[in-house]
Parts: sequence; C-alpha cells; structure tokens
Amino acid sequence: MNFHDSEKIMGILKREGYLPTDEPKKADLIIFNTCSIRKKPEEKLFSSLGRLKSLKRQKPSLKIAVCGCIAQQKGEELFKRAPHIDYIFGPQNIGKLSSILSLERGVFIRENPEIQYEELPADRVDGIRASVTVMYGCNNFCSYCVVPYTRGREVSRPLDRIISEISELVDQGYKEIQLLGQNVNSYRDGELDFSDLLRKINNIQGIERIRFITSHPRDLTEKLIKTMAELEKVCEHIHLPIQSGSDRILSLMNRGYSYEEYKGKVELLRTLIPDIAITTDIIAGFPSETEEDHYCTIRALEEMQYDGIFAFKYSPRPGTKAAEMPEQIPEEIKSRRLSEILKLQDAITLRKNAGLIGTIQEVLIEGRAETGHSTGRTRTNKIVLFNKDIPPGSIVKARIIQARIHSLLAEPL
Ligand code: 5AD
Ligand code: SF4
Repeated sequence: MNFHDSEKIMGILKREGYLPTDEPKKADLIIFNTCSIRKKPEEKLFSSLGRLKSLKRQKPSLKIAVCGCIAQQKGEELFKRAPHIDYIFGPQNIGKLSSILSLERGVFIRENPEIQYEELPADRVDGIRASVTVMYGCNNFCSYCVVPYTRGREVSRPLDRIISEISELVDQGYKEIQLLGQNVNSYRDGELDFSDLLRKINNIQGIERIRFITSHPRDLTEKLIKTMAELEKVCEHIHLPIQSGSDRILSLMNRGYSYEEYKGKVELLRTLIPDIAITTDIIAGFPSETEEDHYCTIRALEEMQYDGIFAFKYSPRPGTKAAEMPEQIPEEIKSRRLSEILKLQDAITLRKNAGLIGTIQEVLIEGRAETGHSTGRTRTNKIVLFNKDIPPGSIVKARIIQARIHSLLAEPL
C-alpha cells in the first residue's frame, strides 16, 4: 500500500514538472514515505533524517517532507525532533501535495479519519505488474494495529473507476493487476462485492493475471473462494494472515475468527483450488502470550503448511488497545519465539519448494536480477530465476530444476 502511495506521489510530482534523481545532493525535494506498523521503521526514519541535516545547511532551498503513517501519527512533534523538515503530511493528504508544496512549511494531517477517496495519477515503477487501489482504510481495529488510526475508516472505490484505470493499464502494456486494500474481501459498490469486481476484471481483454492483497480470514466467503476457483485469470495464491494459532490470543487481537474457522477456510481453498499457494502473517509475543499459546502457533504452521510467512515480533503501537494491555512480553522471549517460528517455516517452505522440482510452471517474466538472470513469478507467486535472458512481459512454460527458500531455478521449455 505504501509502495503504491509512493507511485501516486511520483505521479503528482511528475505532473508538477519534477524529475527523479538517485542522488540526494541533486534533489530540490526529498520525501520520506513512512510506515508505522512497527517501531523499527520509525528509528530508520530518524537516522535518515539525521543524515540530511548537513545537506540542508549547505543548500537551504532543499525541501524535506515526511509523509505516510508516521507523519499522520506524530504530526507537529516531528518538527521538534527534526527541525530541518519542511512539510509533514498524512496518507490521506497525498492528493493535496501540489498545494502543500506551494507553501513555505507546514503540517497537513487529517483530523477526522473519515476519508474521501481521491483519483490520483500514479507513476508506476514496474512495467509488468500494476497495483490498483480498490479500497482505502480499515474498520477492523485489530487490537495491535495502527492502520485504522492512520489510514482512517474503510472506503471502497467506485467499481467503474477501477475498471477504467485497469483498462488504461492494459493499453500501456501491463500484464498483471494487483488489487490493493487493507481488507479487499469487504469491498462493496452498492449491490456489488469483491467477487463481482474480480469477475468484471477477468473479462477485460489483455490482462493475464489478477492478484489481490490482503484478505481478512473472517470476510473470506465461500462465494469468493468459488469465484477464485472459476476465474482463469485469478492466480492460485492467497495471502491470508492468521496472526496466531491460539484462540485466546486471536480473541484478544479482535480478529473475529477461531483457529478452527480459519482452518475450515483453508480446507475449502485447497479443495476447490488444489494447487493454491497460501501465505500468512504471524505476530510473535502478543501481550500475555504463554508458551502454550506460542505452541498453538507452531502447531498451526505445521498443520497449515504455508508456502511462506511474514513473521514479526509484536511491537506496541501508541494509541492501540494492545499497547495498554498488562503482561507485555519481554524482548528476549519475543525474539526466541520469533526465531522458532522462522526456523520451522524455513524448513516447511524449502520442503514445499523442493516438491516443485520437475514440475512445469507458467512463469510471467518480470525483469533481470543483478546476476543477469531473468526473473519471473509462477501463478502461485513464487520467484523463478533462469540462466537465460527472456524478454520481460513474456509468459513461458518452465521446468523447475532447483529449489531454494526464496526462489526456484528453472529452464524454459
Ligand atoms: N506489531 C507487530 N506486527 C504487526 N502487524 C501489524 N501491527 C503489528 C504490530 N503492532 C503485522 C500483522 C499484519 C502485518 C501487515 O503487520 O501481522 O498482518
Ligand atoms: Fe490492521 Fe487488522 Fe485492519 Fe489488517 S485488518 S489493517 S491488521 S486493523
């Protein structure tokens, strides 16, 4: 979502006559698009800002902006820590960027998180896969999560706008559409839901692949699973964050499902879409998590046999319910639990990938790695490397010859 926001910022700046540069020294404007989902990116921001202090002194005309979720959360306070910042604006103010830049300095934060969607021109980085926002914000208030506070309440984008943006992307040569939303499964436009949206996109000539992130397990309906199974362009991959395998923790997280309910959805996915790849997010060391709760997560990983996971230590976020909960877990316990989770999953991922050796996969070529290898992705979203040079945008059938944790090596047929 942040990556695509940056593309929108680039789109606006391009319209204003700005050109990109890789060298901070040459820049007239530097914008940090920040994430506040965990604490670490915050620390990174301040060290990056620190490095720009002397540059700003040498070149006072340089403008520095901080936008995104850290800007939304901290607002004015950022000026105190880094007085050389010129502009602070939240994710819901990206559309105002041109007028923000016409002012000398200031803070532009939406007080009221009821957002209006805005149609912004995106300058996309990748020429093969295009991200398209289908909804903004989130209404779920998972107790650990800052997103509903920084990105505001859920708003779906009108279906006809999404379809016309995708039709333009097809004309520009994009092959794959990645639909974005914090909770795409609750998409609505009047009577139409996310399944209807997928069906309409599937009918657009020229699109080869459709993906979407993220699905909330509670809102993943049988209708949607059947639609995914039926539509040929919808890829056989779902990112379905479980967060924890313990019902007690899931309830404290306010996730709205039990492990058994989650498991039932995964079983239906695997029955109706036999080769589907499933990935997930896990939080280690949520407040009050016991060894038994942690073991439930370990058991869930063993039972679910995910293709990949993103796992994080729980990070208390100011203003969220979980940050106020007693029984915060000590750092070393969180670290140990996280490494147990990652170690187990590495073995599972490698075993699953090794099971693909000898199979034929459809690969969409996306570009070249630094090693000169062509790279692409299977429909199941696994990264594939080739020893040959294949033009980006082509779709090839390839035999998998080697498996690693994060990639597969293949030869085109
Ligand atoms: N601490 C750790 N991980 C978090 N996530 C969201 N909030 C937090 C937090 N406070 C993780 C969740 C979510 C992913 C995008 O980030 O697993 O699915
Ligand atoms: Fe955060 Fe939960 Fe919304 Fe995801 S569904 S963005 S974890 S509040």
